[in-house]
Amino acid sequence: MKHLYHQGNEAFAPTLLLLHGTGGTERDLIPLAQAIAPEASYLSVRGSVLENGMPRFFRRLAEGIFDEEDLVLRTAELNEFLEQAAEQYEFDRSRVVALGYSNGANIAGSLLFHHENSLAGAILHHPMVPRRGVQLPSLTGVPVFIGAGTNDPICQTAETEELRSLLEGAGAEATVHWERFGHQLSGGEVEAAANWYREHI
Ligand code: MLT
Repeated sequence: MKHLYHQGNEAFAPTLLLLHGTGGTERDLIPLAQAIAPEASYLSVRGSVLENGMPRFFRRLAEGIFDEEDLVLRTAELNEFLEQAAEQYEFDRSRVVALGYSNGANIAGSLLFHHENSLAGAILHHPMVPRRGVQLPSLTGVPVFIGAGTNDPICQTAETEELRSLLEGAGAEATVHWERFGHQLSGGEVEAAANWYREHI
């Protein structure tokens, strides 16, 4: 997968997995990672699906309607890539914390939904429920930050609460931070994520 890796300064810190939104690249979330965990190493991946030329992490049939088969396949592909990257860059595979926005948050959510121990934690900015009707693996004690907007037309409040409840049902420690905005990432949300990171990771 197209990606970049940055070696941070903290010897034993977790590695952040950066996952951009639709139309982004592996460079998009670097400033966000620097704001949240300035010393951390990061692996930033570019989504390998193109929608009208815009990179994404999995196909969708329409806005908010995911191609489930593709989602499952691409999630497994990303999980395998994490194994390879951990060997190549010599980071601790058991300490990968996802940092995703929008479509990137959705594939991070899908890692949590489908692959046990795939993530040691996750910061999900404006995620949706990646898939319904499946049994989640154990997420006991996995800390998850969800950044949401009460006026987000893509990730509506009920869906955010549904995601929180599914994650908590599997044992995750979910924290939802609300802003009064829409789908965009606001300064207040980034600050809340940085504070959460210091306390939970
Ligand atoms: C998705 O397709 O993952 C969500 O609709 C968010 C986005 O617009 O990328």
